[in-house]
Amino acid sequence: MVALDFFCGAGGLTRGFLNMGIEVRAGIDLNASCKRTYETNNRPARFIPGDLSVLRGSDIAPLVDDIPRDELIFMGCAPCQPFSKQRREVNRDGGTLLERFGRLVDEFRPGYVIIENVPGIAKVRGNSTYKRFLKRLTNAGYKFADGKLDAKWFGVPQTRNRWVVIACRDIEPSLPEQTHGTGTTPFVTVRDAIRSYPRIRAGEQSVVVPNHRAAQISETNLQRLAVTPPDGGGRLNWPDELVLDCHRKYEGHSDVYGRMRWDAPAPTLTCKCFSISNGRYGHPEQNRAISLREAAKLQSFPDNYVFYGESQACIGAQIGNAVPVKMGEALARKILQLKRQAR
Ligand SMILES: C[S@@+](CC[C@H](N)C(=O)[O-])C[C@H]1O[C@@H](n2cnc3c(N)ncnc32)[C@H](O)[C@@H]1O
Repeated sequence: MVALDFFCGAGGLTRGFLNMGIEVRAGIDLNASCKRTYETNNRPARFIPGDLSVLRGSDIAPLVDDIPRDELIFMGCAPCQPFSKQRREVNRDGGTLLERFGRLVDEFRPGYVIIENVPGIAKVRGNSTYKRFLKRLTNAGYKFADGKLDAKWFGVPQTRNRWVVIACRDIEPSLPEQTHGTGTTPFVTVRDAIRSYPRIRAGEQSVVVPNHRAAQISETNLQRLAVTPPDGGGRLNWPDELVLDCHRKYEGHSDVYGRMRWDAPAPTLTCKCFSISNGRYGHPEQNRAISLREAAKLQSFPDNYVFYGESQACIGAQIGNAVPVKMGEALARKILQLKRQAR
């Protein structure tokens, strides 16, 4: 089987498929700064810079013309859309990109289709982009399974709820079955994932572990971390003189400036996962945010997966945006199972 990874980013989903023995011919993404990370870690998959809002079938055809359609997989993890409180799509761009992806599915009719997005995509009322996408699949003869999956169910040391669709034409599909957190296999924790990395200080980069670099933080924030209890403490534990003015009368976002817990999966990582002011991204006991390497490990990237980018923000986005590798593996395993059943 051969996959094309639309919106491939740094290659989390691609790596998961390669690990399961599925060829990924190419990844396509608007953001050319992902190229070096993607190609270095996923040989021989090629990175093709491209904008899905203008890409045509004729651009894709040379990549897939030799592949029988029932051997072909299209994967499309379009950027997450923001939603209003009324569950309306407030940014039509993500919607348009899913529609463009749907059109390519319609044109090429690959045997298997996967999408992954935030759960909000399925909650939008009315004739939403998502509903139109499913209708297009159905009209093209696909059957589909959709639902919410949490990355920690598949051995990722992180709570990360995502909406997944698997579609195929020959057989009624199902979503991957949970492997961790039930029966005898526990969830993988922050301790399991990051305890063995060398100690570093805020602003430091390890000379031995690639990307083990922690963000610089201000003197005041260092004082705040110093009084934040290890293993799950947060800003509610600070003395009055260190409380931020914006937090004095505001009880929301209590996770920001918090430390992760050693013996639980990490909270959902975002593009800003290297910054303590953007979530519970403090190290469980060292006075710093988690490093980029630790963030990558909490997304289940292996240690030899090296990230390249001109800034911490650029690499943080590659990591925070990724489909965790182990979730990618679970999806690939399911596709292989469906393929066997279809024979
Ligand atoms: C959720 S991330 C994909 C993560 C990736 N699948 C992985 O596993 O690492 C969404 C990606 O869509 C890309 N993107 C945004 N707009 C795009 C467009 N118009 N055309 C192609 N890619 C786009 C972003 O650069 C980002 O890498």
